Amino acid sequence: MPIGEVRIGIAGLGRLGKRHALNLATKVAGAKLAAACSIVPEELAWARTELGIESLYGEYAEMLERGGIDAVYLVTSSAGHAQQSIAALERGLHVFCEKPMGVTVDECLSVEAAVSSRPDLVYLIGFVRRFDPSYAEAKRLVDEGAIGEPFLVRSQTVDLDEYAPFQVKFIPTSGGIFLDMNIHDIDLARWFLNDEVESVYSLGGSFVHPEFKTAGDADNTVALARFRSGKMAVFSVSRTAFHGHDTHSEITGTKGILKIGITPAKSRVEVLDSGGARIECVKDFYERFAEGFLEEAQEFVNCIREGRAPPVTARDGTRAVEVGYALAESFRARSVVSL
Ligand code: NAI
Repeated sequence: MPIGEVRIGIAGLGRLGKRHALNLATKVAGAKLAAACSIVPEELAWARTELGIESLYGEYAEMLERGGIDAVYLVTSSAGHAQQSIAALERGLHVFCEKPMGVTVDECLSVEAAVSSRPDLVYLIGFVRRFDPSYAEAKRLVDEGAIGEPFLVRSQTVDLDEYAPFQVKFIPTSGGIFLDMNIHDIDLARWFLNDEVESVYSLGGSFVHPEFKTAGDADNTVALARFRSGKMAVFSVSRTAFHGHDTHSEITGTKGILKIGITPAKSRVEVLDSGGARIECVKDFYERFAEGFLEEAQEFVNCIREGRAPPVTARDGTRAVEVGYALAESFRARSVVSL
């Protein structure tokens, strides 16, 4: 039996939080953005001015206690996700949590335990690509056998070089390149291959920005994953592209191949002139996945209103972090890591 409007409190109004807040306030059926929380006063002022929210908090615990909400939308720094998820679940609130679910495997296991103890609550991890129409269509095709048995996923996440300075500052709270960026490709490979990773080998380096190396991270990486059944995945990540946000994936099966978004085109327009042939590219993750961000928010609210379990589980959240950790360990140790 559907319930009425879901009152949501958002935590985190930074680069992505503002976009989620706008969706929840204006585009998600059955949702009311009732409260907002941020440790940055300017972001709270933005929520008041732009969205008309009066229930504003500088302290997360205070929003949970006094916000008059049914659910929280966590778009805070990754290092806070696990503890903030558990606090909300313990107060009986549904939770949407941006990826990654935590920055250590132990944290993720604690979240899983909290989720298991409240089967009446919806807990959804924001693996946005699963909600993108093209990736969702590819999954439907794989599941109906359109390419036979899938055995290889190649998937990449590539950001513009101009965001690199932001990413350097982000490292202490993001968990580093493998947890922050590879995590999407890891989740996709598990989803498409319907299998778990058994071992990984990863390489990386700071080829453009030495600051990443100083921070123990990398600006470009490539990795191989072997799954329990022997299926395979190749992941690559770059923070140093000059053409656009270039996330794409390819799934090979025994009877065919699916390619998803191989050219990161902004539209279907091609300019052919004295300079040759050109296609304008999408600039950032939000431009590429705007539909997915809206779809996942709508699904979260629909699950709450219809009393349904969400399509992405806390187990998926933990598994992706486990593999991300193994990739980081392999990068540091320069050896194969088994899970
Ligand atoms: P950001 O640094 O721009 O924003 C972080 C926000 O969290 C700020 O509003 C800050 O005030 C708030 N915050 C931090 N600690 C807090 C606390 N204790 N209580 C309340 N608010 C707190 O970061 P950005 O880029 O918006 O990323 C946020 C999250 O979204 C990250 O976990 C990131 O991994 C995820 N993300 C996911 C993407 C996707 O493709 N699904 C893309 C970009 C980010």
